[in-house]
Amino acid sequence: MKKIIRNGTIVTASETYQADLLISDGVISSIGKSIEVEGAEVVDATDRYVFPGGIDPHTHLEMPFGGTVTKDDFETGTIAAAFGGTTSIIDFCLTEKGKPLSEAIKTWHDKSKDKSVIDYSFHLMISEINDKVLDQLPDVINQEGITSFKVFMAYKNVFQADDETLYRTLLAAKEHGALVMVHAENGDVIEYLTKEALAKGQTEPIYHALTRPPEVEGEATGRAAQLTGLASSQLYVVHVSCKEAADKIAEARKKGYDIHGETCPQYLVLDQSYLEKPNFEGAKYVWSPPLREKWNQEALWNALRTGQLETIGSDQCSFDFSGQKDLGRDDFTKIPNGGPMIEDRFSILFSEGVRKGRISLNQFVDITSTKSAKLFGLFPKKGTISIGADADLVIFNPETKRKISADTHHMAVDYNAFEGMEVTGEPETVLVRGDFVIKNKQFVGTPGSGQYLKRAKYGKTTNLADKPMMIQ
Ligand code: URP
Ligand code: ZN
Ligand code: ZN
Repeated sequence: MKKIIRNGTIVTASETYQADLLISDGVISSIGKSIEVEGAEVVDATDRYVFPGGIDPHTHLEMPFGGTVTKDDFETGTIAAAFGGTTSIIDFCLTEKGKPLSEAIKTWHDKSKDKSVIDYSFHLMISEINDKVLDQLPDVINQEGITSFKVFMAYKNVFQADDETLYRTLLAAKEHGALVMVHAENGDVIEYLTKEALAKGQTEPIYHALTRPPEVEGEATGRAAQLTGLASSQLYVVHVSCKEAADKIAEARKKGYDIHGETCPQYLVLDQSYLEKPNFEGAKYVWSPPLREKWNQEALWNALRTGQLETIGSDQCSFDFSGQKDLGRDDFTKIPNGGPMIEDRFSILFSEGVRKGRISLNQFVDITSTKSAKLFGLFPKKGTISIGADADLVIFNPETKRKISADTHHMAVDYNAFEGMEVTGEPETVLVRGDFVIKNKQFVGTPGSGQYLKRAKYGKTTNLADKPMMIQ
């Protein structure tokens, strides 16, 4: 059935204006004043913003990690994402050395296909590079539409790849049209600092942060940037947490390198002192890179405002406090790394960013949606409001005040890292390809209705639906 989104304030990365939207066959088919179509369902968006659906470029759903598996799967995780205004995610598909890449991709398809309530795609982890792996990459890109590869520079003896692997991945990405993503921390130095701390009996959660200081993130970011320049390739640095790393990205961009940076809501509003909470509560805030001293937050906001950092990922990687984070009660290295962030990404950026004057409304859309669509081969099908684009829309009340809490969130975990934080602004209704997933703050979606997204190569755009459009 056709739908009309009536009288909302449409916000894109470049424009803000009042109009009606007509949705036909899942796409935006008309934008204009006082659209009338017989039989169409009318959704009143008066006094509401209408945003393009959020794109979360960084999630870990049902992922084995740290001796356990992340608590939110593709059903609970995407339901929570939808409540938070996200209509597409890109999840990290883990690979194992020596095994075909197609096996890992199949595992990720099996986990997601009957569960996801929003659209989704995968990034592929590269753990080794050899002729066998290189031979498989064209199929990964052309058949699967996976056009971004992740290399870990940390997690020694688990995920960490060496510099040769990173460099050769950059060369392959350049050749085939993919974007390389890095987790930039110096894993070797972290391993040494960790052993030193444990030998001194320093086992509490705060030592997770103290053994991964900002310098190891800055160093790895700078190294990855230099290798990108050498390879004339393209790089996306995930979860930038501190000024050291943001500065390295800015420096490389100044030289003309094709480098992009993402930060996460947690680094913008929480700080290192949370890891010192008593009764092991600090474990709730253990993820990598760690939370930093508070002064870094303003540096990250500045980098977002000036475009040196361009996107915000949730780095959703949720573990229960009770039964999972507990694994590290006597040894911080055994606390599974990660936190539950998928639901609050949009609200925190709006409330702390737009409402507090740190970024503009149009920058908010760019950071939460448009830029990810452009970098990861989804634009203009996703990431904007224009004729022919998928009708992935968020009807957002900018005035609602609410307190974030585990009592009311929709993630499957037993705590919320932003517990008690008051935010202004809330998604009320969320549509994916024209279908309601959230309607008046109620979940009305269907597990399995999310579609797998094959993405365009780096720097290329998607084709829009080949349907006749009405221009009013
Ligand atoms: O601690 C984190 N960030 N866990 C998820 C895996 C990663 O490093 O992104
Ligand atoms: Zn990471
Ligand atoms: Zn991550």
